[in-house]
This record gives sequence, structure tokens and C-alpha cells, in this order.
Amino acid sequence: MANTVIIGAQWGDEGKGKIVDMLSARSQVIVRFQGGNNAGHTIKVGNEETILHLVPSGILHPGALCLVGNGVVLDPEVFLRETEELAARGVDVSPGRLAISKKAHLILPYHKSLDKAREAKRAGHKIGTTGRGIGPCYEDKAARVGLRAGDLADPDLVRAKVRHALLEKNVLLRELYKFEALDPDAVSDGLLALAPRLLPYVQDTDARLHAAMEAGADVLFEGAQGIHLDIDHGTYPFVTSSNTVAGNAAAGSAVAPSALERVVGVIKAYTTRVGSGPFPTELLDDAGSYLRTNGHEFGATTGRPRRCGWFDAVVARESVRLNGITDLALTKLDVLQNLPVLRICVAYELDGKTLDYLPQEEGALGRVTPVYEEVPGFEEDISGCRDFAELPDTVRAYVERLEELTGARMSFISVGPGREQTIER
Ligand code: IMP
Repeated sequence: MANTVIIGAQWGDEGKGKIVDMLSARSQVIVRFQGGNNAGHTIKVGNEETILHLVPSGILHPGALCLVGNGVVLDPEVFLRETEELAARGVDVSPGRLAISKKAHLILPYHKSLDKAREAKRAGHKIGTTGRGIGPCYEDKAARVGLRAGDLADPDLVRAKVRHALLEKNVLLRELYKFEALDPDAVSDGLLALAPRLLPYVQDTDARLHAAMEAGADVLFEGAQGIHLDIDHGTYPFVTSSNTVAGNAAAGSAVAPSALERVVGVIKAYTTRVGSGPFPTELLDDAGSYLRTNGHEFGATTGRPRRCGWFDAVVARESVRLNGITDLALTKLDVLQNLPVLRICVAYELDGKTLDYLPQEEGALGRVTPVYEEVPGFEEDISGCRDFAELPDTVRAYVERLEELTGARMSFISVGPGREQTIER
């Protein structure tokens, strides 16, 4: 298999975990390149469900090398908890096959406090973050005051950086947000207590990745969140704090852009979004509740109910263009069963004009009216189909129409959560 980037083509929660898991079986190295434990990748093997927040989903494939790239922000406690849980279930999480880039930034308690404090203060116009400290950690990275995983080997450096960070952050927490200030020694002690367990994982992942590639390994670059949550290209300011686009797979894992050979965009057969922000095809009626219940649309990370709506081909087309998507993986097609009609958003109307693209002015996407095309629904149970030809005519027509509208081929079609419930074309 060629070096492949997997990204979410909507607002996250497209079912990337399953597709990554499937393609991991054909790769020797799996790298996470952005985001942190705001992600939650659910993988179902047999009757066992695993939700991974930080460890690359490839870990369930014995022998694969799993790397947490420099573009990730890593919460040390979450990483250790996740590895312990995996180890308890017999998964090999030894540093020989799981490593963290020395250049990855660490999420510290003050990042989480600031994330929560800011959201609390934004009453009425919350972003709806996951509260995991993601934004504040990336802020420190950009402000050049962050702590990186490699710093853990130098306790004096850790203490100096934490002290320096809290000089400013404690003023904000205490005075502006009326939150509890944090004691620099307690924060440093807490982090340094974890260091002996973390340090074996903290490695020169660039060297390991390049050595594997030179030896002929195929690499899977595992994206988190979705394209429309990208800090530059998403529905700003209702976005996450990293670049989620496929292009960032290179910068976030230390390979050249020319190493990225194939881009798989994972896309749901309908649309969901967690947190605030514009969502043109959102359904606030029974059809929305039906999708939420039938699709188990509750956040894997925060448990929040997801907002649900029709497939938006404008959003999908933009994702194909921004990421150079070579293949789409359509997920949760089975969830649409028993809806009498299916609607597809093919354009928007805004101020008397028809748009076939997303308007870029802040707030404009929140004012568009979707233009819908209607196609017949289906009643058949498709969860047992393993070949495109086995799908009912109406379902095939829906998929083919989505291909036409997005301009990309649906190479994978998922008809249920299980590994085997996938049609590959
Ligand atoms: P943050 O990434 O926690 O700062 O949250 C920013 C926005 O991204 C919020 O709307 C979150 O709900 C959303 N978000 C972050 N991670 C995910 C994800 O993995 N899936 C879906 N939405 C996400």
C-alpha cells in the first residue's frame, strides 16, 4: 500500500477509527500528526470496542510501529492511562513499537484550566471545546513558551518553563477568570513524577520513521477531527487549534510532502457536528433525532449528543479540493435505513445568490439556506452486504450521486461498525 493520509472530511466523528484500523493492517507504520485527546477513535473488533484518544489506532495490529508525531499535543496522564488499559488487555505497548516525538508539546494542568475558564467566560458564544486544554497548549507552542516531551529529561528546564508559564497564566486564572491559581512546584512535581514512565517512549521519531521508510515500510498518517475544524480552513472561530488538512501530515510527522502518496477522506453518509458553529444542513426535527439514535451519535470523548443533518456535498467538495482526496470512505450508510426520503445539499443560497462553495466571511455560513436534492430512501437491511452489487438500487444510486457531486470515488463503504462490515471497491 502507498503512504496514505487518512483525514475526516466533515466536522470530525466520521468513523475514521474503523478505516484507520482497516488500513493499518496493510501498513507497517502508523503516525498521528495533529490534535490530541480531543479525538476519540472507536474501533470494534468482534464484540470488543476500543476507544483510543491518543495512541494511534494501529496499535491493535501486532507488529505495527505507532508514532505520536511532533504535531500532536500530548496529555501525559491520558497517554499513560491509555497504554496501561491497552496493556491490561494484552496489547503490546512497549516503547519498541510505540513512541512519542521529542518535539511533541505537552498539555499541562494550566492548559486545561485555561480551556475551561475561557469557555465559562464566553457565555452565549462558546466554541464548545472538549475542555482538554488543546487550544491553550497550541497557543503556548506558537508563543514559543511550550514544554516539549523531550524536556522531560531535564528537570531543571521543566521547572523553569512551568514557573515562567505560570507567572502569566496565574494572573489570568486568578484575576480575570476567578479560577484557582496553580502552584508551579506542584505542577512540576506532578509532571516529573510521570517522567520515568514516559521517557522510554520519548524518542527521535523522525529517525525511526525515516529508517522505516528507507527499509520500504508503508506509512499511514492518522488524522484527527475533521477538515472543517481546521484552524485555517475550517468554520473559524468554531474550529480546533491545529491544521487538520492532509498537508499537515508532512509537517506534523517530519516527512516531506512528496512522501504523501494517497489521501483517503472519511465521510459519513450524513453529517454531524459537536460543539458550536454553523451547520447548514442541521436537522432539528424527528429526522435529526432518528439519525442521532440510530447512528449512536454521542461523542466518544465527551459523551455530548452530536448535532445531526443531511449530507452536505458543498462541504464534501471543498474537502476533496483542499486535501487532494484520492479516495473517499463512506461510513454509516446503514444508519439511513428506513428514512422515506434522503436529502442531499447541493448548493447554498445567500442574499439572493446561489453558491456552490463555502462563503469565507465570518458568520456567512450560518446565514445560508441549503439547496436540496431529494432521492428515495431504502428499507432494506444493508449491514450484511459485502459487495457494491449487493446493495439495493436506491442505495447504489445514492452513493453514485454523492460520487458525482463530490468528484471523488467511494472506494470504501462501511455498512456497520464491525471490521468485516465494509465494502471495498
Ligand atoms: P477543541 O479541539 O477541544 O479545542 O474543540 C474545538 C472544537 O472542535 C469543538 O467544537 C469540539 O467539539 C471540536 N472537536 C474537537 N475534537 C473533535 C473530534 O475529535 N471530533 C469532533 N469534534 C471535535
